[in-house]
Amino acid sequence: MAVPHVFIFPLPLQGTVNCMLKLAELLCLHQEIHITFINTEYIHQRLMNYTDVLVRFEKYPNFKFVTVPDGLPEDNPRNGDQIGKIIEGVEKVSSPLFREMVMMTTTNYCTPTCLIVDGIFSFAVDIAKEAKIPLLYFDTISPCSLWTYLAVPKLIEDGEIPFKGNDLDALVNGVAGMEGVMRRRDLPSFCRTPDLDIPIIKLVIKQGKHIVQAQGLIFNTFEDLEGPILSQFRALCPNIYAIGPLHTQMKANLSSQYLPNTPTSNSIWKEDMSCIDWLNKQPNKSVLFVSIGSLATMSKAQFLEFWYGLVNSKTRFLWVQRPGSIIGLEDDNNNVPMELVKSTKERGCIISWAPQEKVLAHPSIGGFLTHSGWNSTLESIVEGVPMICWPYFVDQQVNSRYVGEVWKLGIDMKDVCDRATIERMVIQVMDVEKIEFLEKAKHMSDLAIASVGEGGSSYQDLDRLIEDIRLMRI
Ligand code: UDX
Repeated sequence: MAVPHVFIFPLPLQGTVNCMLKLAELLCLHQEIHITFINTEYIHQRLMNYTDVLVRFEKYPNFKFVTVPDGLPEDNPRNGDQIGKIIEGVEKVSSPLFREMVMMTTTNYCTPTCLIVDGIFSFAVDIAKEAKIPLLYFDTISPCSLWTYLAVPKLIEDGEIPFKGNDLDALVNGVAGMEGVMRRRDLPSFCRTPDLDIPIIKLVIKQGKHIVQAQGLIFNTFEDLEGPILSQFRALCPNIYAIGPLHTQMKANLSSQYLPNTPTSNSIWKEDMSCIDWLNKQPNKSVLFVSIGSLATMSKAQFLEFWYGLVNSKTRFLWVQRPGSIIGLEDDNNNVPMELVKSTKERGCIISWAPQEKVLAHPSIGGFLTHSGWNSTLESIVEGVPMICWPYFVDQQVNSRYVGEVWKLGIDMKDVCDRATIERMVIQVMDVEKIEFLEKAKHMSDLAIASVGEGGSSYQDLDRLIEDIRLMRI
């Protein structure tokens, strides 16, 4: 009988790779489970350059990395506006190699016994069928966002999308369990399209069809946060593993108790650790952390509105300006008004990439101005940090609505980017309503941490996942 051997294949983006590596490490801790982790060459190279991932995984003899090309030219950017190309490249170039790998290894000692792949990878259904092994989809976005993706066919059928008229505040009632919550502007950004014949819409419709063919769905969330939506999913696919927040689950497993500073970074950019020294000098809960993640971009005009808003709020801030994330800035020789640079020296710190988990866990952090990527949202929740949400695209529009309206863990600033609003919202979260927001955030943080503790819902689901993988021998 073959040993349990899982092939893990993430979508080659920072957020998804980060999540799946954490799952891989959690499974590795159970030595009898073998893992083959498929990285694209681009991601693998960046992990080698900027992290200790390879050294970290060396201690697991049951783990190995395999790389495949992503089909894009080396100098092709891998920003948010390239997601379509990235997915296309994986489907056309990486997936046949993945199939070959699965089929080849089924004939020798390292037979895969289960595939865990990104929820967007439709091709995996046929590969798993051909290899006669179970498939688990790991959708690393929030279940509440994925649920809105799956509602797209119904929204089209009901005539809710494309939108009729320009009122983005109109309520949308076609998403089960979200009636009265979702406005048009809170649906995934691609729902704003006037033309349904676009790749992303086709992709999510396809996703809805194949996702139910998996033997199970893995989510990076916890029951106390998304219980009602998880119940909706169970009606579609009874076998749900809600094992998040994964980074907390991992820290709990590595140190048998949750320690905020256990390193778990899987960054594909070089982290600037000097910001921790700067944070050490700031008062408790006084600093707003500003970051728009690994893919989002902003125009130079938006960038200046942000900067004026931050400076005018008189709040201390730590701002990640990822290279390439401000469109047009480099063409303009990084030219910005001197008054902004001067004010920032007094109470700001700007870096190009942060050790984000460490930053959010730092006692001086009192708020997070975020693009509402799902990893960032969960990292903020775990550390009890209230959020100001400026969603950029896809799932982020849904996450920010839940943060503001359902979980009440911050404010949703979507579709607005003017200095006066930014200043007002920063003051609201960091000053006027600081205590209230911090209390709510602390409560959710306690629930998140409890979920991965012994007997917690995510702890139990991870146990069940491991047990199920062990039984998937052939
Ligand atoms: C992408 C999609 O944009 C997002 O909508 C989806 O939810 C996940 O994939 P991304 O921009 O990568 O999101 O954001 P997010 O999910 O928040 O992940 C970013 C990761 O990078 C986080 O784990 C964060 O800790 C890390 N990060 C970010 C850093 O380590 N340093 C930084 O300076 C910024």
